[in-house]
Amino acid sequence: MKETIERLLSELEGVRCKTLREVEDMRVHYLGKKGEITKLFDEFRTVAPEMKKEFGRKLNELKQLAAAKIDELRETVSVQEDTAAPKRDMTMPGDAFELGSRHPVSIVRQEIVDIFRKFGYDVAEGPEIEDDRHVFEALNFPPDHPARDMQDTFFVSVGHPNPLLLRTHTSSVQVRTMENARPPIRVVCPGRVFRNEAVSARAHCIFHQVEGLYIDRNVTFADLKQAILLFAREMFGPDTRIRMRPSYFPFTEPSSEVDVSCNICKGKGCNVCKGTGWLEILGCGMVDPNVLEASGIDSREYSGFAFGMGVERIAMLKWQVNDLRHYFENDMRFLHEFSTAVEV
Ligand code: DAH
Repeated sequence: MKETIERLLSELEGVRCKTLREVEDMRVHYLGKKGEITKLFDEFRTVAPEMKKEFGRKLNELKQLAAAKIDELRETVSVQEDTAAPKRDMTMPGDAFELGSRHPVSIVRQEIVDIFRKFGYDVAEGPEIEDDRHVFEALNFPPDHPARDMQDTFFVSVGHPNPLLLRTHTSSVQVRTMENARPPIRVVCPGRVFRNEAVSARAHCIFHQVEGLYIDRNVTFADLKQAILLFAREMFGPDTRIRMRPSYFPFTEPSSEVDVSCNICKGKGCNVCKGTGWLEILGCGMVDPNVLEASGIDSREYSGFAFGMGVERIAMLKWQVNDLRHYFENDMRFLHEFSTAVEV
């Protein structure tokens, strides 16, 4: 038995393994149920009592050494196996990041605002949750005036003496601007507006507008016409013509709707302009004296013009998208079509 222990000790010293499989085989060989060392423990029962102490110590030492050797081999072999694993190909292209792009509505809103900034307009914004005064009253919509029905309003609080509502147009920001600034005033007011409308290809309950306001001494309809013409040419191209049709808004007098010559058929008539050669782009007019007075501006000293346009409408004309709902569904295939339109 003594010799066997000695032999196993020197054998263990020299054991080498290349794989974890070999380490496991070695463990079974020495320490498994029928392993060499296990067998010695069985034999130990037959050892003479006076020798038990010495052999017991030797056997335990052998077992511990074998266990330590197996642990050590397992460690070194697994590190080697790891480094021997196929190397990563550092020349492989990485996973591409999907970069976002600006939303088409944001692109057009910015374009509209930039055009008016060039003309010297400031930018003003106001709250989306408004009160009756700023959306209706100060814009010359008396209570019960039928023109309030032109825009179906979402009310936030009903039955309140001063009900809160979602603004139906950005004309409310005109009022806020006039309340807080003295003429000359030149602002554009971009923002989101809300109307209780059934969603369809041509209408949505949320959309965007840009409102414009210019107030100074001696502002005339000719100034309005010129401002709109310059805007239309910047937006739709230098050959664009405009035409003004009489219209009605409570806050302007006279009021007008503006069409631009169709930039697709160049005015000859196509299915986008429905054969007319013209596309409606905005409403405008000379600010009604009542509106100036309601915000503390002397209508005998000052006059002004205002206009309001739908951003989605301009975007639809610019890109010939014929369904408004595309702008709100955030379908990536649609949005990606505009990623090249971003100026970096
Ligand atoms: N507020 C109008 C609307 O939402 C648009 C508009 C028309 C604004 C004429 C104006 C304007 O400032 O003069 O339909």
